[in-house]
Amino acid sequence: MNLDDAIRAARAASERAYAPYSNFPVGAAILTQGGAVYAGCNVENASYGLGICAERNAAARMLADSTDAKDREIKLAAVYSPNASPCFPCGACRQVLREFGCEEVVVLDAEGNPRRYQFEEIMPHSFGPEVL
Ligand code: THU
Repeated sequence: MNLDDAIRAARAASERAYAPYSNFPVGAAILTQGGAVYAGCNVENASYGLGICAERNAAARMLADSTDAKDREIKLAAVYSPNASPCFPCGACRQVLREFGCEEVVVLDAEGNPRRYQFEEIMPHSFGPEVL
């Protein structure tokens, strides 16, 4: 699997978002260092604070589904919302992507073209597991 697969998976996941309160569907897909893709969508709740973002759901799927160490490390994360172009990951999700070594974040501009960012660009001087 490659970047295009991840973008396709993020778009497809956004169509399955459960976002009746914000009406802001988001899909995210993680491409692992091992070449697997795991997608997630945002899932909201009537108890608003319990909603979870697409990126963190994708990370949870990665961990739950993979046994190979290389598929538990994030090469890149692609994020898509039909309501915002580009749609960047929120701060909490950046921290979770950071935990698993995310190297790159890819968002789509209004024309649907990928914009690629090194992770360090969007989250400089971050805190991570190697500190502990
Ligand atoms: N959301 C995500 O899923 N990912 C982001 O990076 C930004 C925000 C969701 C959370 C909430 O369900 C909706 O978008 C509006 O904030």
